[in-house]
Amino acid sequence: MSEALDALRVRALSCTSCGLAATRTQVVFGSGRPDSPLVIVGEAPGEQEDRSGRPFVGRSGQLLRRVVAEETGLVDDDCFVVNVVKCRPPDNRDPRPAEVAACRPWLDEQLALVSPTVVLTVGNFASRLLLATREGITRLRGRSYEFGSARLVPTLHPAAVLRGGASAMERFRHDVGLAGQLLSGAAA
Ligand code: URA
Ligand code: SF4
Repeated sequence: MSEALDALRVRALSCTSCGLAATRTQVVFGSGRPDSPLVIVGEAPGEQEDRSGRPFVGRSGQLLRRVVAEETGLVDDDCFVVNVVKCRPPDNRDPRPAEVAACRPWLDEQLALVSPTVVLTVGNFASRLLLATREGITRLRGRSYEFGSARLVPTLHPAAVLRGGASAMERFRHDVGLAGQLLSGAAA
């Protein structure tokens, strides 16, 4: 699937389907192995992601990548990492519904091409979008959901974990651990 994903990347890099195209430095398409069993879905690129072109390279990304490595054994580019919107919202404001809707086809195609075993959604934006619910992450998390041929595990956003102290970290680690169990076939 690597050629198809590369072709999708090339198309996405010149996308101007929403207003975020005007203020971004570059499109942050996603990074990682095209045949990864785990896709991680975040919210939107921040300043460092906008500058580097890679998702989750800042402080919250480092926390995410560390806990994923510890709980699943998947190191850095072993997983495929994407965001709900591919361009940075100015001043890190929340993505608007029209921007999320405009960007959705890229995410759907990424998920179809990578076809992972487990999808880990971090934070309200990704979790609500892919589970098609208005429920908040604190009520959604802690379990897995059917998601096409995959299982979906919603958890806290690592930026919230950085602010939330030990109890947030404990819940985050629990959920990422559940993703790890699903990947190894140890949980259904
Ligand atoms: N937060 C996100 O949701 N995604 C990133 O890529 C970086 C920070
Ligand atoms: Fe295109 Fe998505 Fe960037 Fe908007 S956020 S310009 S839809 S890639």
